[in-house]
Formats: sequence, structure tokens, C-alpha cells
Amino acid sequence: MQFEFIVHVVQSGVHEVGGNSYGETSTARKEPYSRRDDGPLGGEREASCGWGGATVRVQLTKGQLAVTNERTIVEISGSAAIVTGGASGLGAATAKRFAELGATVFGLDVPQSIERAGDNVPAGVTLIPADVTSNDEVSAAVAQVVDSGAPLRIVVNCAGVGWAGRILSKNGPHDLELFRTVITVNLLGTFNVMRLAADAISKTDTVDEYGQRGVIINTASVAAFEGQIGQIAYSASKGGVHGMTVPAARDLAQFGIRVNTIAPGIIDTPMLAGVTEEYRKGLEAGVPFPSRLGRPDEYAQLSQYIVEHDYLNGETIRMDGALRMAPR
Ligand SMILES: NC(=O)c1ccc[n+]([C@@H]2O[C@H](COP(=O)([O-])OP(=O)(O)OC[C@H]3O[C@@H](n4cnc5c(N)ncnc54)[C@H](O)[C@@H]3O)[C@@H](O)[C@H]2O)c1
Repeated sequence: MQFEFIVHVVQSGVHEVGGNSYGETSTARKEPYSRRDDGPLGGEREASCGWGGATVRVQLTKGQLAVTNERTIVEISGSAAIVTGGASGLGAATAKRFAELGATVFGLDVPQSIERAGDNVPAGVTLIPADVTSNDEVSAAVAQVVDSGAPLRIVVNCAGVGWAGRILSKNGPHDLELFRTVITVNLLGTFNVMRLAADAISKTDTVDEYGQRGVIINTASVAAFEGQIGQIAYSASKGGVHGMTVPAARDLAQFGIRVNTIAPGIIDTPMLAGVTEEYRKGLEAGVPFPSRLGRPDEYAQLSQYIVEHDYLNGETIRMDGALRMAPR
């Protein structure tokens, strides 16, 4: 049986690929990069590579019976990327991954989170203080990204907040301002970044014969579909993010911008840092397979995949190990 594999160059050295020369320690996938191999899937191993006589380490990441001539149209390497909530959790992991893949990454976040990140910011990532709910702050941040000179092609909206509260509890009705805050950050903030970033992406050159320019990824949650008791505000906001996916993809089609949404299950981010081991075990047990929490880098990996897959548009993808949340 033969497998298609995708080569990630993970070893220093300059490799000639398809006539182009790429710099060292790149983990970017270059195209057209499909080859046949009988090796096992998963893991890394050495493989001799005809390009420039180099030996590279490869990761076998995909099994297929036939080889396709896979092409990456929206190149992560050389593009500018905006990642909101980029100072923490899923946003930080995504910013790091895209920077490692050669993008110039700008993480938009609130000053407190940027301060908390301290020096722990990966090379290639610049954190910009910007509240996603602010027209002025996001406009200024997008202008800074445009000034970087790298074309803005990737936007990942990870900024978000959660709040637990029932519509009605022993303490009375849900606080209206708290509801407004969650909707404002998660839904309006996502919309705000999407509209301003799309404007900048629309001014870049197209990258293929179909007029593609860039990709926007938003973050919902499985709570968009089965919100638990006490998640009324959060579920409403994430349901809104899911709901924007198709109309946003339709609105932005004429500008060559794809829009997709990731709906994560329970991911091991700082949000869960304070929970007890017992509680964590309970969360893990509720995930059918694999029975563990998701990892931020798995979110980042899916973001990369969405960027690189030209035909993925207007879709919300659950990333949850088949988790379906119970009422509580
Ligand atoms: N971790 C999970 O299990 C999980 C599950 C489903 C969905 N999500 C969603 O994924 C996204 C990222 O969550 P996370 O777990 O990485 O959380 P996190 O708290 O680690 O990161 C969220 C980041 O968003 C930033 N942020 C909040 N309000 C902002 C604002 N107004 N402007 C700019 N930045 C702001 C925060 O400062 C923080 O750095 C959120 O939208 C969250 O709802 C997370």
C-alpha cells in the first residue's frame, strides 16, 4: 500500500524544492510536495530527499491510496497573520505555530494578558494591545499589520470570555450587563475584527486564478450546540459566531476570502488551570475518544489545515473527541 505523505522540514539546512530555495529550520510545507512511501503513518523519520541532495526528517501525516499533487495556495510563509487572544491559550498556540511556519504574526490582546505573557512570546509574534470590541483599537492594529509589508492573508479570532450564570437563579435574574459583556466580546468582537481585517485582505493581490486572497477562522464552542446549565450567555455568543459563518463566507466570497469556524470541545488552556485533578479527570472521562482534554496545538494544527485547504469554506468544524455536553 502506498501513502501520500506531507513533508515537514524539521531539520536545519537549505533544501532545494521544486527549483526554489527555502531557508533553514523551516517547518513550512512547500508545494508540490507529495511523494509515495511505504512508511508507517505518524511519527517522524529520516528520508532521503532528492532536492539539493539533502536528507530531511519527514512526518507522515496523512494516509491515502493515491498520490495527489497537493498545492498550497494561501502560503502561510511570507503572509501576515492576525490572531486575536494571541497572548494566551488557543490564540498563543496558533500564533506560535504560524510564526514557526514563516508567517509574520500579530497577536491582538488586552494589555493585562500581554503583560502576563511577559517575555514568553515566540519569535515572529508581535503582541499588540487592542480590545477586539473597539473600532479604533482594531483599526489601528490592522493598520500596523498592513504597514509590516507582509500581505495580510490569515485571521484567527480566538479572543473570548466565559461567564457562568443561569437565566434565573436563587439570586434572581441573570445580570444583564454580564450577558451584554459576553455577547460584546465573543460575538461583536469577532465581527469587528472580521470586518476590519477583511477590508485589509481585500486590498491584497489575489493568489490564484479563482481570486483567492485570504482566510478567516473564528472560534465558537461546542456550547454553541449543547450549552450547559449556566452557559446561557456563552452559548448565545458562540451560537452567534457559528451563525455568522455561512453569511460571512457568502459576503466575503466576492473578495476571495474564505471564512470557517472551529468549535472546540474542552481544551487544556489556562482557563482550566485552576481546576482540581478530580474535576479534570471527570472532564476527560466525558470525552468518548480520545478520552482526554484537547491540546491547544491541536487547535493550531486545525487552523493551519483550514488555511491550506482551498475548498473549505462556510463550515463550522467541531474539534471535540466526539464530546456531546450533558446538561451539567
Ligand atoms: N479552552 C477551551 O476549552 C475552549 C473551548 C471552546 C471554545 N473556546 C474558545 O476559544 C477561545 C480561546 O480560549 P482560551 O481557552 O484560549 O482562553 P484564554 O483565556 O486562554 O485566552 C483568551 C484570550 O482572549 C483575550 N481577550 C479577552 N477579551 C478580549 C478583548 N476584549 N480583546 C482582546 N482580547 C481579549 C484574553 O485576554 C485571553 O488572552 C475563546 O473564544 C473560547 O471561548 C475555548
